[in-house]
Amino acid sequence: MAKDFSTMEDSNRSSNPSIHDVSDPGRRTLLRGAAASALLAPLAGVATLTGCATGPAGPGGPLLGFKSIPVSTDDAVVVPEGYSIQVIAPWGDPVGLSGEMPAFKADASNTAAEQEAQLGMHHDGLHFFSQEGSTSGLLVINHEYVDDGLLHPDGNRTWNAEKVRKAQAAHGVSVVEVAQKNGRWDLVRPSPWARRITARTPMNVSGPAAGHALMKTAADPSGGRVLGTLNNCASGITPWGTYLTCEENFIFYFKGPQTPDTHQRRWGLRPGDPIGYRWHEHDARFDSSLHPNEPNRFGWVVEIDPFNPSSTPVKRTALGRAAHEGATIATTRGGRAVVYMGEDARFEYIYKFVSRDAIKPGGAAPNAGLLDHGTLYVARFDADGKGRWIALTHGQGPLTAANGFTDQGEVLIKSRQASDLLGGTKMDRPEWIDIDKQGWVYCTLTNNSNRGGKDMPAVDAANPRANNTMGHIIRWKEDGDHDATTFAWNHFVLAGDTFNERAEAKGNVKGDPFGCPDGLWTDRRGVLWIQTDMSTSAMYKGDLATLGNNAMLAADPTTGEVRRFLVGPIGCEITGATATPDGRTMFINIQHPGESPSERSDPAAPQRVSNWPDKRPIGRPRSATVVIRKNDGGVIGT
Ligand code: FEO
Ligand code: CA
Ligand code: CA
Repeated sequence: MAKDFSTMEDSNRSSNPSIHDVSDPGRRTLLRGAAASALLAPLAGVATLTGCATGPAGPGGPLLGFKSIPVSTDDAVVVPEGYSIQVIAPWGDPVGLSGEMPAFKADASNTAAEQEAQLGMHHDGLHFFSQEGSTSGLLVINHEYVDDGLLHPDGNRTWNAEKVRKAQAAHGVSVVEVAQKNGRWDLVRPSPWARRITARTPMNVSGPAAGHALMKTAADPSGGRVLGTLNNCASGITPWGTYLTCEENFIFYFKGPQTPDTHQRRWGLRPGDPIGYRWHEHDARFDSSLHPNEPNRFGWVVEIDPFNPSSTPVKRTALGRAAHEGATIATTRGGRAVVYMGEDARFEYIYKFVSRDAIKPGGAAPNAGLLDHGTLYVARFDADGKGRWIALTHGQGPLTAANGFTDQGEVLIKSRQASDLLGGTKMDRPEWIDIDKQGWVYCTLTNNSNRGGKDMPAVDAANPRANNTMGHIIRWKEDGDHDATTFAWNHFVLAGDTFNERAEAKGNVKGDPFGCPDGLWTDRRGVLWIQTDMSTSAMYKGDLATLGNNAMLAADPTTGEVRRFLVGPIGCEITGATATPDGRTMFINIQHPGESPSERSDPAAPQRVSNWPDKRPIGRPRSATVVIRKNDGGVIGT
């Protein structure tokens, strides 16, 4: 879907949290004041200013050792001096299924069956699973959504079951084998590990909501077997070697009834046809007036074992249902898994799940049920800089049959309603989460232009800016271990550009300005990598006018310094980050290059906005993975 602010979901009309005072955000903001202001400079001077801090590479050098780059509006990936990039695994290239490797056709005339053997569209979260140290491994890549204007030769001007099947095949997850030779990476094809998981791949449901009445459909009376995964946004990995892919804006795929009920409304289901997608015309399960429980079967975190290509993905319902951005796992000193998750919709929540059992040695098999038993919590950020995790446990507090929750399965299917009653803090679109070396847990809050608007929730301590066009990064440290139920929090940074006229868009970035943080990843050296997703409907103008294309920046969690490291091509967002164990190769994704504001690409002019990366006279922009290397073979970021 086009990421137009006017069509984004905003379904939380609960009255919580009344406990929050409107307060001065500065009291808990680490990085503000004269020091931050002094570092900020007009855009033209940014590179020079931050370049003076450039230091030598290698151990013992500064955490951020590269020379910052300026903003860019070029249709290219730009990286600092001394770095090079390589594009691999673009949409439409074959993943490497033996005997099934259809070449990409630049006019988008590949069939649905061919798309099922090719990389999907709109790459998002990814992870490198090492096989041979830092020279070969598996890349697992999410495909969040599709642009029908690029996916089919004539866009959606004609529509049929084959096109629906192709769109479903371009969703989901790809597993590809990659190997490095002389500093260059390539896919290994064919590969026994190559795999496509799509919006039609059978998957199991586990945990308390498996088999629940609200999960049963005509096609699946067991309530435990779902076809496919949708809108796979951010990702995570488990300590036992599996991949977590997270279902985000699933509701946009469903046709709603004329009068959605309370539950459907709370999950953003709108009457009539969905905006953009037309799957329901040829796949009746996406017509919720015919199959009202089908939407309940999406919005989960899905676990995939990439090293077992014949394994069935599992939707882990104990982690709760949400428009899940991602899932990031910490381990307690006692060995239990703690999964941090954000729900990316306006005024939705931050969650964590604490497993009942400790992680067992031995990899995936002995931990196959670990994420099925435990406690889910929603975060409440209090105005005094403290916070509390409140359990979503049936029978506790308001989560009773009298309030519409018959059992734990229903609590999890209706996580939003449960969190409303529990008084979770309504956030400015929680996106990726990661943890630094000191144990601080960071969450990007990408933006919320409705904050403080008419009939909308006011600013609060954790979400301190009205019309929050720029976003911020909040962080917290648990009181004790990651399974604690209380924490202390502050703002790592309020994104923005100090030269903005509007006070609430200035932010307090100590270094290079940026807006709309989304992707977030901490590397082994402790660098916090921040990736931006300024909406194509909002960028290049207003508060975002000076920020150019979407970018990736590196932050020092200790000093708060932020440096721009990479800028993407026109119309893209930067998302997903991972590296080889030696830190000398980094992989990121360029998603939706060429996306135009609030509309699908024009199939008659697919290159109108971008022609990255192919730059072929006949062709179209393609999401792809970018390999980043240092020319001297050094560690990325040094
Ligand atoms: Fe799929 Fe919240 O970005
Ligand atoms: Ca995202
Ligand atoms: Ca985003």
